[in-house]
Amino acid sequence: MPSFATSPGTRDILAPDAARWRAFQQVFADGVETAGFTHIIPPMFEDLGVFLRVGESTEIVTKEMYDFEDKGGRRIALRPEQTASVCRAFVEHRPTTPWKVWYAGPNFRYEKPQQGRYRQFDQVGVEVLGVDDPMLDAEVIGLAINFYRRLGLSGVEVRLNSLGDSGDRDRYSAALHAHFSGNADSLSPESRSTLERNPLRVLDSKRPEDASLIAAAPRMSDHLSEAAATHFSAVQDALRRAGVDFVVDDRLVRGLDYYRRTTFEFVSTRLTAAHTAIGGGGRYDGLVAALGGPDTSGIGFALGLDRTLLACDAEGVFGAPRSRIEVFVVDATGGREAESICAHLRAAGIGSDRAYDQRSMKAQMKSADRSGAALCIIVGDDERLAQSVIIRTMEGGSQQTVSRADLVSHVTRMLGH
Ligand code: HAM
Repeated sequence: MPSFATSPGTRDILAPDAARWRAFQQVFADGVETAGFTHIIPPMFEDLGVFLRVGESTEIVTKEMYDFEDKGGRRIALRPEQTASVCRAFVEHRPTTPWKVWYAGPNFRYEKPQQGRYRQFDQVGVEVLGVDDPMLDAEVIGLAINFYRRLGLSGVEVRLNSLGDSGDRDRYSAALHAHFSGNADSLSPESRSTLERNPLRVLDSKRPEDASLIAAAPRMSDHLSEAAATHFSAVQDALRRAGVDFVVDDRLVRGLDYYRRTTFEFVSTRLTAAHTAIGGGGRYDGLVAALGGPDTSGIGFALGLDRTLLACDAEGVFGAPRSRIEVFVVDATGGREAESICAHLRAAGIGSDRAYDQRSMKAQMKSADRSGAALCIIVGDDERLAQSVIIRTMEGGSQQTVSRADLVSHVTRMLGH
């Protein structure tokens, strides 16, 4: 028989990590719903055209898209991110603005798998449509920072930049093109080819041979229109008022083409190598219009769940939640006692489990140990006859006999509920 394993870049998330993922999404939802965001669940695949709008010259579109023709002859793609889907939903449903939504779920990019980089990866994120106010930019960044704090992370740096309006961006791109192509011989071959597709992305090169030309390249800050510069300085003022530390990094270009004005990235200072960016976002004021909607400004971010949990591991915070099993029932009489005691405890909201197949006492005690339960309930022939049970603490091993009628109240008290 053939046997199968997960495809490259995908993983099974097993216990206890799966519960940690759920807790992560819950902490995020609690934070953003308190700030007025409502939940949106976009589909995991859509018309390829929706995602082409994230930038025809980006690697996400040219190299990494999971696109295919479905059985109805439609060009479909698995979503590589959710911002474009949210904007498509906005155009489709025309909700009143400001429209503030949050999402959580998997995305798909055909990347080279390595630690912190997967082909299926999860994000949580927010988007706000219909607001120009720079105060919102700072508020959105603050939401992410508060979330990181709630996880217990302390080593997260905010890198901030403005890519200007579309005219500024085009002028800057032309200036970069002129600078790099004038010195193309000293660029790496990879950067020479990037230069023809998207001069801004050359700034992202980490190749040592490109470093000196990048350091001497023109600066975005010198190409901002007055309106974009005013917006950017208002964002910085609002961040200072909110007590959010940030570093202005005018080499921050991001991997998607739709950004205008404010862009930012959250970087873990505790991770190394390729996966230090644990989240990112910015304004994308032209995207709704590019998807056939009215001129509408937008801003948001997405945080990589997989990478953020690696950062949590590196800082020793936000561990997996404890097992929900609080009581393990060991039945030496064949199993019917465990059956009724578990039913009784579960109906009272007490997490309980048991063994099956009439295993030996020793085997059942081993299962009790593995279950993570704080208490073990033991029933033998004597207890069955006397309608009592033995309650034993797993730590310390102290035990007492109580009547079946008082079981729930005893257990509740011992668990400290
Ligand atoms: P992004 O920078 O492409 O932005 O992704 C955001 C985060 O998702 C990254 O910082 C990273 O933590 C995580 N991530 C991306 N690719 C992978 C991967 N292959 N494996 C693991 N984690 C990954 C966006 O997706 C934009 N939609 C963000 C946004 C929202 N901009 C405005 N609104």
